[in-house]
Amino acid sequence: MVKNILVGVDGSKPSVDACHFAMDLASQTQAQLTFLFVIETPQVIPVGPLSGYVTTSPARSEDDVKKAEALVQQIAKERAGVKVITRVELGEPVDTICEVARTMAVDLVVVGARGHNAAQRFLLGSVSDRVVHHAPCPVLVVRR
Ligand SMILES: Nc1ncnc2c1ncn2[C@@H]1O[C@H](COP(=O)(O)OP(=O)(O)OP(=O)(O)O)[C@@H](O)[C@H]1O
Ligand SMILES: [Mg+2]
Repeated sequence: MVKNILVGVDGSKPSVDACHFAMDLASQTQAQLTFLFVIETPQVIPVGPLSGYVTTSPARSEDDVKKAEALVQQIAKERAGVKVITRVELGEPVDTICEVARTMAVDLVVVGARGHNAAQRFLLGSVSDRVVHHAPCPVLVVRR
C-alpha cells in the first residue's frame, strides 16, 4: 500500500529520527524512499503599506548545497539494504515538500515533529504543521 515515501530533512535531530523511522518502514514494506532537504531561499516580506520590505534568512551558497547533499547521503547509509534517493532543492520548505510529493506521486510524507527552532510552547514546528495541512497525501509526523 505504501510504495513511495518522501521524508523532509532539515538536518535537525528530529528530522534524522524521521529518516530512521522511514527507513525501518521502507525495509518492511519494500517502499521506495526519497530524502528531500530544502534549502530555504530568502523570502521578501512586505512589512507595511509604506515602510518597505524585510528579507528573511541569508542568501545561500554552493557550499550549503554540498553540505546538505553530504548529510542526506550520510543518513541514507545508516540502514543496510534500504535504497534511498536523495534530493536537495532551493525554495520554500512547505511548498517544495508538497510540490515534490505531488510530482513524485508519493503515498506518504514523513517529517519530524520539530526541527532546528524547537520552541517549547509549540506542539509542532510550523513546517510539519503546514505539511500536514497541505500535502496531497497522508503525512506521518515522527515524535521521539
Ligand atoms: N527545510 C526543510 N527541508 C525539508 N524538511 C524540513 C525542512 N524544515 C523542516 N522540515 C521537516 O519538518 C520537521 C519539523 O520542522 P519545523 O521546521 O516544522 O520545526 P521547528 O524548526 O522546530 O520550528 P519552526 O521552523 O517552525 O520554527 C523537520 O523534522 C523536518 O522533517
Ligand atoms: Mg524549522
